[in-house]
Amino acid sequence: MTLRHFLRDDDLSPDEQLAVLDVAAELKNSPQGRTPLAGPKGVAVIFEKNSTRTRLSFEVGIAQLGGHPVVVDGRTMQLGREETIEDTARVLSRYVDMVVWRTFAHARIEAMAGAATVPVINALTDEFHPCQVLADLQTIRERFGRLTGLTLTYLGDGANNMAHSLLLGGVTAGMNVRIGAPAGFQPLPWVYDAAKQRAAETGATVEVVHDARAAVDGADVLVTDTWTSMGQENDGKDRVGPFRPFQINEALLAATGTDSIVLHCLPAHRGWEITDEVIDGPASAVWDEAENRLHAQKALITWLIQEGSRG
Ligand code: CP
Ligand code: NVA
Repeated sequence: MTLRHFLRDDDLSPDEQLAVLDVAAELKNSPQGRTPLAGPKGVAVIFEKNSTRTRLSFEVGIAQLGGHPVVVDGRTMQLGREETIEDTARVLSRYVDMVVWRTFAHARIEAMAGAATVPVINALTDEFHPCQVLADLQTIRERFGRLTGLTLTYLGDGANNMAHSLLLGGVTAGMNVRIGAPAGFQPLPWVYDAAKQRAAETGATVEVVHDARAAVDGADVLVTDTWTSMGQENDGKDRVGPFRPFQINEALLAATGTDSIVLHCLPAHRGWEITDEVIDGPASAVWDEAENRLHAQKALITWLIQEGSRG
């Protein structure tokens, strides 16, 4: 039995990521096509931060796979009253077949995975949002028919979970990933180094660019996200002024010089990181992207169950 977790994007090799994306495409065409959680198997889906898409798509997706989702507000668990993460992991592993967790520091989900005897899926930490990036990759593949060799530019907070996951997940898919971010908001060095290492295996490139127009030049895909992630509301940093040049508006979109598409994991702050004209315009793929959370996560769960049943 091979216990696998999905905590960060490079937990999947390039071949494994492609296999998950193939299953995601298959499940999109055949919503009840596979029921690996039939029985039903229970899945704990725990949130310590707000959520709309992740909560709904996991709950519905697990049900479609034949399983029983148990969605819990982590702040009401004993975890919120100092029961350790490891003890929680040991107990949950006796009840459910998989744990999905949205939490704060990434070290917390590593501790959960370290003590769990069932697969653990990262539903967003401060450092990574890998399920979102699987859905992003599915969306890009649908639009372009491929991923390898495309250029993806992320604009905004280069140190947040989306920037980090796009770096790791993007280069795993063979995409050239540019982070367009103001000085002081570049990716964490250890994440950037991990992305460079994976990029060397797949022939992709990574770079950080502080000029927004240079960052988007020739890009096939533009991605943005909130300038203030959950938990950063009172971190004392100016999270508006330095980001203004990185807003995705019609002028910046035109500056790509290509027929690029635009992604945003949502929720969007219209008029801040993206304008109404762009998010509601022809380049926007955000609604397909949101839908693909459902298919990509079902594919990931299916793949993890298959891995777990290997001899
Ligand atoms: N994109 C995303 O994870 O959305 P939610 O915070 O609504 O789950
Ligand atoms: N970077 C954002 C993503 C929300 C889905 C946050 O962490 O709040």
